[in-house]
Amino acid sequence: MPGKPFIIVAIDGGAASGKSSTASALSRRFNLLHADTGSYYRAVTSEMLKRGADPGDLASVKAALADLRLGTRIDGRLAQIEIAGRRPGAEIRSREVNEAVSHFAAIPELRSALLSYQRGQAAAARSGGFAGLVMEGRDIGSVIFPAADFRFFLHADPAERERRRVREGQQDRVAERDRLDSTRKTAPLSVPDGAVSIDTTRLTIAEVADRMASVIARSLEGA
Ligand code: DC
Repeated sequence: MPGKPFIIVAIDGGAASGKSSTASALSRRFNLLHADTGSYYRAVTSEMLKRGADPGDLASVKAALADLRLGTRIDGRLAQIEIAGRRPGAEIRSREVNEAVSHFAAIPELRSALLSYQRGQAAAARSGGFAGLVMEGRDIGSVIFPAADFRFFLHADPAERERRRVREGQQDRVAERDRLDSTRKTAPLSVPDGAVSIDTTRLTIAEVADRMASVIARSLEGA
């Protein structure tokens, strides 16, 4: 009897669209390794700021990208990034990082520093004994894993997304980040081909996760 298939689930969407909570729910439901690539861009941004890089000065970014030594620590079902042996802390959700992250994430050299790292999380999931990988971000179904088994795109009304961030105690201009993330030249936020698009404005996390889980379960039962 063939073993269970290893699945890759890509979830893309704007800021505070519900990606992390639903990815976490799916990781529990299907025993998937959960990779939050927004936290990777945030961690690298925080490191760039610490190393004195300015997103408007490419030479300073290139210099700061040297010797990042990216690693992964698996904590439960979460694949956490390490930079030069250190795991970033709460500073990755600070106002400074919220304001800088889209500017650094628009730089092709910085994106390519994270590309193979992100693809490598599939191997980390296999060797960790997971049934697959759920990766969330902006370009997962379009660039990182265009052949993902499942592609979802989450969106929600901007006012509701701002309220979600305020409830989390964060200062975050989600509409401005979306504008920057959608209009950059390299790997902009976009709806991947063939993605299941879900408006999460009036749905609870559990309702969104249930819809996604039923798409996955139906397909796995038919496999
Ligand atoms: O998911 P998040 O809001 O924590 O992501 C923070 C920023 O990281 C987002 O504004 C743009 C960038 N990002 C990206 O460019 N590509 C990804 N795959 C994930 C995040």
